[in-house]
Amino acid sequence: MKTYLALIATALTLSACGGSESAPASNTQTTPSTTVSAPAASSAPVAALSADALPAECKVDVVSDDAMKFDTKEISIKSSCTDFAITLKHIGKMPKAAMGHNIVITAAADKAAVVADGVEAKLDNDYLKPNDSRVIAATKLIGGGESDTVVFKADKLKNGEFEFFCSFPGHSSIMSGKIKWLD
Ligand code: CO
Repeated sequence: MKTYLALIATALTLSACGGSESAPASNTQTTPSTTVSAPAASSAPVAALSADALPAECKVDVVSDDAMKFDTKEISIKSSCTDFAITLKHIGKMPKAAMGHNIVITAAADKAAVVADGVEAKLDNDYLKPNDSRVIAATKLIGGGESDTVVFKADKLKNGEFEFFCSFPGHSSIMSGKIKWLD
């Protein structure tokens, strides 16, 4: 595998440089192999959690629209669920830059600060601070006609008070609800 990547790296380097200078080729060989392997390694844990395999009681659909609302104010999670999936659907027509929605779950106490930092993070980051450790789960930010699913370990929400909300600027006061844990 490494030899194969090294050959690709050499080929890319040669074509990029037009063959006029071959000396830097040895220095650039490690860069492409790192770039290729990193996404595969980091996406593996995400792929392990699939919504399709979950029992019906361990997943829920939440519908949103161009009127800036979710169709529920509460998401219940049963203690029998190991993994839990939330699928957000946007049945409106507006693009995400104008009427974007996501579902973000945090401790109730963290909500305001996560929303404030999300505004600073802007649309390019789905209105969430990158790698925000306060975010327990979050879908992508989506626009009309789109949907996205997030799967997470249910017991992360077992102890404490948790809320779900949309982090699009100005939406979280209305697009918000509570997580209810059912023993
Ligand atoms: Co929204």
